[in-house]
Amino acid sequence: MALRRKLKITVTVMMVNLFIFILISRNGSQDKNASRKPRVPSKPFWARQTPSPAYWNHQQQIRDFQNNPVLMSNYSGGDMPDWLNDTSLGSDPCRPNLRVTTQVKDYNSLPDRFKDFLLYMRCRSYPVKRDQPGICEEPPFLLLAVKSLEPHFDRRQAIRQSWGRAGVLANRTVATVFLLGNATAVDHHPDLSRMLNYESAHHKDIVQWDFRDSFFNLTVKEVLFLEWIQTRCSGARFIFKGDDDVFVNTHRILDFLKGLSGPKARDLFVGDVITNAGPHRDKRVKYFIPESMYVGGYPPYAGGGGYLYSGDIAARLHNVSKHVALYPIDDVYTGMCMRKLGLAPEKHKGFRTFNIEEKYRSNPCAYKSLMLVHPRTPQEMIQIWSWLSRADLSCQ
Ligand SMILES: *[C@@H]1O[C@H](CO)[C@@H](O)[C@H](O)[C@H]1NC(C)=O
Ligand SMILES: *[C@@H]1O[C@H](CO)[C@@H](O)[C@H](O)[C@H]1NC(C)=O
Ligand SMILES: *[C@@H]1O[C@H](CO)[C@@H](O)[C@H](O)[C@H]1NC(C)=O
Ligand SMILES: *[C@@H]1O[C@H](CO)[C@@H](O)[C@H](O)[C@H]1NC(C)=O
Ligand SMILES: *[C@@H]1O[C@H](CO)[C@@H](O)[C@H](O)[C@H]1NC(C)=O
Ligand SMILES: *[C@@H]1O[C@H](CO)[C@@H](O)[C@H](O)[C@H]1NC(C)=O
Ligand SMILES: *[C@@H]1O[C@H](CO)[C@@H](O)[C@H](O)[C@H]1NC(C)=O
Repeated sequence: MALRRKLKITVTVMMVNLFIFILISRNGSQDKNASRKPRVPSKPFWARQTPSPAYWNHQQQIRDFQNNPVLMSNYSGGDMPDWLNDTSLGSDPCRPNLRVTTQVKDYNSLPDRFKDFLLYMRCRSYPVKRDQPGICEEPPFLLLAVKSLEPHFDRRQAIRQSWGRAGVLANRTVATVFLLGNATAVDHHPDLSRMLNYESAHHKDIVQWDFRDSFFNLTVKEVLFLEWIQTRCSGARFIFKGDDDVFVNTHRILDFLKGLSGPKARDLFVGDVITNAGPHRDKRVKYFIPESMYVGGYPPYAGGGGYLYSGDIAARLHNVSKHVALYPIDDVYTGMCMRKLGLAPEKHKGFRTFNIEEKYRSNPCAYKSLMLVHPRTPQEMIQIWSWLSRADLSCQ
């Protein structure tokens, strides 16, 4: 039997080879001159680039150029076109970059959040105010990382008492960490730092950096978190990162992860993936981005409400993020980093960042097969978790 199978395989391979041979020789005979004359392309292999009029795109062109040793080697003599020579390189990236006030055409008419973003766009390092160096001493199977804001005490507590309870669940270790910046007086936040001291000492699950915790600085939080994973939690097998107003079905996530192995586990990045999107040009929308800042579409990206990825992807994202200019919308930025890695996040129906139909919201069984639902209040989180933890919950 084995011999016959071997023979069959050999014959098949030979047939395939013959077919390829015929294909190649047919192509060759069509082009009789090919063997005698080398083919010289009439146009340059790559087009000479022109500077993009949009600030982010231009910054990215400079980075792409400077990270390309082939292109850079041609300009050792210092005859680089001015538009590719970032003369601010070498100066302190965390000092406000006043150059943007003239480089961005309509800088003066942009809303303040854009001015703040542009001035500090090159800065990626901020001091750590609170850290939990021992939180991953035993590398967790799943790290739950929740973007939170100083005043959201009740949301964090509800998460600890429900889907984010650290410890062992379904025989897997789960660690939970909250990611905070500074709720600053500039944004009229009350000073809650002493209450935060208490909370942090009590729960030991808060990581905080000294930067202004604003919507456009969530990308700063993202790159700081990617750095943090590598120094504090590089042993985590999987990472969930999401907002503090979502319900996460941790049971379902562990169940899903249990079934993964090999490249499917190594390259995992799932969430509520948005494709073919682009910047909003309506000034009244939260996600508005002016043309002077960005042109082009967005790569596929997973909505920032929550997504799940492997520790291996986290390491690759950390590396590649250094080569992607900061973009003011954090989930789009992560999509840009994925694209640079040659990967795309995968859509999973269990991630409902746009909620579920109203008629199902109070039905315990509606949550059983889902991984994430947005938005949910602290009370709803605790209620849904208690539904899912009931031994007698039976659903079809
Ligand atoms: C072969 O070369 C001749 C002269 O250089 C040219 O006219 C002809 O189009 C070429 N044929 C092919 C198939 O490229
Ligand atoms: C390198 O420089 C030469 C001379 O300036 C130019 O002709 C050539 O196109 C450049 N090559 C690249 C890859 O830019
Ligand atoms: C970039 O510009 C600076 C200042 O104008 C100049 O000193 C430097 O030689 C330029 N670098 C390259 C590679 O052209
Ligand atoms: C629990 O997990 C450990 C290691 O992950 C494994 O060795 C053990 O067999 C598991 N126990 C059960 C009951 O599944
Ligand atoms: C963050 O808050 C502390 C006080 O808790 C303050 O000293 C510091 O200047 C703030 N940082 C920023 C960037 O606003
Ligand atoms: C981001 O944080 C830095 C440091 O606190 C701050 O200077 C900057 O204005 C913030 N940017 C935005 C868009 O809020
Ligand atoms: C990240 O970069 C470092 C340093 O270049 C390298 O040693 C490491 O293998 C890279 N990690 C991944 C996952 O690509």
